[in-house]
Amino acid sequence: MSLVSSGMIVARMRPLNITCRRWRSIYLAWTLAWVLPLCAQTDLMKHEDVQRGQADYRQSCAICHGTEAMGGVGPNLVQSSLVRHDENGNLIAPVIQEGRPDKGMPAFPLMDSAEISDIVAFLHARVAVASVVSSEGLAGGYSLQQLLTGRAEAGKRYFYGAGKCATCHSPTGDLAGIAKKYSPADLEAQFLHPSHDSETATVSLNSGKQFHGKLLHLDAFYVAILDQEGWYRSWPLQQAKVQVQDPLAGHLELLSKYTDKDIHDVFAYLETLK
Ligand code: HEC
Ligand code: HEC
Repeated sequence: MSLVSSGMIVARMRPLNITCRRWRSIYLAWTLAWVLPLCAQTDLMKHEDVQRGQADYRQSCAICHGTEAMGGVGPNLVQSSLVRHDENGNLIAPVIQEGRPDKGMPAFPLMDSAEISDIVAFLHARVAVASVVSSEGLAGGYSLQQLLTGRAEAGKRYFYGAGKCATCHSPTGDLAGIAKKYSPADLEAQFLHPSHDSETATVSLNSGKQFHGKLLHLDAFYVAILDQEGWYRSWPLQQAKVQVQDPLAGHLELLSKYTDKDIHDVFAYLETLK
C-alpha cells in the first residue's frame, strides 16, 4: 500500500484505448493487485458480488425500495436515472452514506465500502435484467411508448425554465434539427447523458501537491488520471481531494433532478426540433 500512499508513478501508458484487460495483465505482472478496484466496472455483473449485494440489499434496503428494487415507500431504483447513470458507485454510494434524511432516505454511515460495492453491483444487475426483459427497451431503459407520453409544451417550459437547458443550448442554434440527427433512442440517450470523454480533474493531495490531467476513473474510493506528460496516476480518496472539470457537468447535475415526467416532456419537445 505504500505505493499508493506515495502516489507513485506506476506505469506509462498511451492515452485512450486502454482496456481493463490490458491494465490487469500489466498490473498483475507488477503484482499491484490494489489497482484492481479500478476495473470494478467490468466486474459489476460478477455473480458473487451480485449475490452478496442482493443479501445486503434485502436486509437494509428492500423494506423501502421493494425486494426487486421496483419501489415501495422509496422510489423504484431500477428506473432511477441516478442508478442508471451510476458508474462504480459514484452516484449511489453518496446516497447510501449520507442519505437524504429530509426526504425519508436514511443514511448508512457504518456500511463498509465492500458492502456498498456489492449493493451497487446488485442494482446494476437489476437494471441490466430489466433492460433485457423490456422488449422495447431503449438505451436508457425507457420504452419509446413511455417516452412519447410526454407533452412537448411542458417540455419546452422545462427547457427554458427549471431545466435551464436554454442557458447552454438553443433550439434554433446547436439543437436545430436534433430530432433528425438522432433516432429517438439515441436522442434520449444523448440528452440524458451526452457521450463524451472530455473530463479533466485536478487532484490535490493532503500533502499539498497538485496534479492535473484527463480523468480516467472516479468512484467513491479511488481517483485515477492521465497527467499531462502521459503518466497514469491513482490515489485513494482518503488522501486526495478531486475537482472535476466537466463541460457536461450541467447534464450530470440534471440527472439527480429530473423526474420521469420531465424526461418524457423534454424528450417530446426535442422530438419537435426537426
Ligand atoms: C426507510 C426507507 C428507506 C430505506 C431503508 C432505504 N431507502 Fe433509499 N430512499 C428512500 C426514499 C424515501 C428515497 C427518495 C428520496 C428522495 O425523494 O430524494 C430514497 C432514495 C434512494 C436513492 C436515490 C434514487 C434516485 O433516483 O434519486 C437510492 C440510490 C437509494 N435510495 C438507495 C438505497 C439503498 C441502496 C438502500 C439500502 C442500503 C436504501 N436506499 C434504503 C427510502 C429508503
Ligand atoms: C451547463 C450547460 C448545459 C446545460 C444546462 C444543458 N446542456 Fe445539453 N449539452 C451541453 C454540452 C456541453 C453538450 C455537449 C455538446 C456537444 O458535444 O456538442 C450537450 C449536449 C446535449 C445534447 C446532444 C447534442 C448533440 O448534438 O449531440 C442534447 C440533446 C442536450 N445537450 C440537451 C439538453 C437538455 C434537454 C438540457 C436541459 C434539460 C440540457 N441539454 C442542459 C451543455 C449543457
